[in-house]
Amino acid sequence: MIILRGKDLKIAYEDKTIINKLDIDINKGEVYTIVGPNGCGKSTLLKGISRCKKLVNGHVYLDSKDINKCNSKEISKSIAILPQMRNVPGDIKVKTIVGYGRYPHLGLRNKLEEEDHKIVRWAMEKTGVLDFQDREIGTLSGGEGQRVFIAMALAQKTEILILDEPTTFLDISHQLEVLELVKDLNEELGITIVMVLHDLNLAARYSSRIIVMKQGEVIVEGKPEEVFQESILNSVFGIHAYISHDHIHDCPYFIPIDKKNHTFKHNV
Ligand SMILES: Nc1ncnc2c1ncn2[C@@H]1O[C@H](COP(=O)(O)OP(=O)(O)OP(=O)(O)O)[C@@H](O)[C@H]1O
Ligand SMILES: [Mg+2]
Repeated sequence: MIILRGKDLKIAYEDKTIINKLDIDINKGEVYTIVGPNGCGKSTLLKGISRCKKLVNGHVYLDSKDINKCNSKEISKSIAILPQMRNVPGDIKVKTIVGYGRYPHLGLRNKLEEEDHKIVRWAMEKTGVLDFQDREIGTLSGGEGQRVFIAMALAQKTEILILDEPTTFLDISHQLEVLELVKDLNEELGITIVMVLHDLNLAARYSSRIIVMKQGEVIVEGKPEEVFQESILNSVFGIHAYISHDHIHDCPYFIPIDKKNHTFKHNV
């Protein structure tokens, strides 16, 4: 079942068109990762499908309803987005930031009720930031801060979670921790995930579908094993790659090979 659909999308910054005539379908319950070179329009697409950026053309449908016909509260009860740029003043307390995730759900008093506090606590527990709840965000490490923002998105309690580079700044152990959390959220709570990752091997391991973008276009969309092909990686990223299978996680993996060592792949 398609939960989020973009049709004939055109997105531009003033007169600079980044995305044109793009179609995208997001199936409920899957984990999608968008990959592609820097500047190809991944963040722009995420902003377009979550109505953070106005479309020049086209439509986005959330559960078959045009999101232009939904009010902002309605959208933010369904879609939470962790943007790539996360600028907040450093002196805000962690639990206050996570509490922002509850804003779309607040009633007329615009105040967190007991149930909201419970959800905020649950989100902090789930992301392992409960111990930092009274610290100021500016005093946390990059990885700790990252988890706080994921907690904020989680506290929004949406059926779709959009994460723009959730693993930047993280060491490998914390990258795995965040992606395991994403996997749990998908498997246990059925949350549909759309994220951007730069690490293609982690994308292959943690996604059920991969969307490959280049210069504002979707080049291919499919299961990791369908997308991981030398010719695709070569045309999108300009690299040569040795592609194999990770038997531990049952997914493809690749080793990038620079042009000088191109013959290496024939010897493996
Ligand atoms: N606010 C803006 N005003 C003007 N141009 C912008 C703006 N934001 C992004 N762009 C341009 O739009 C293009 C796509 O940017 P976008 O951030 O979507 O790329 P991306 O694929 O997410 O890249 P990255 O991997 O570096 O995050 C880039 O050329 C960028 O310079
Ligand atoms: Mg980006």
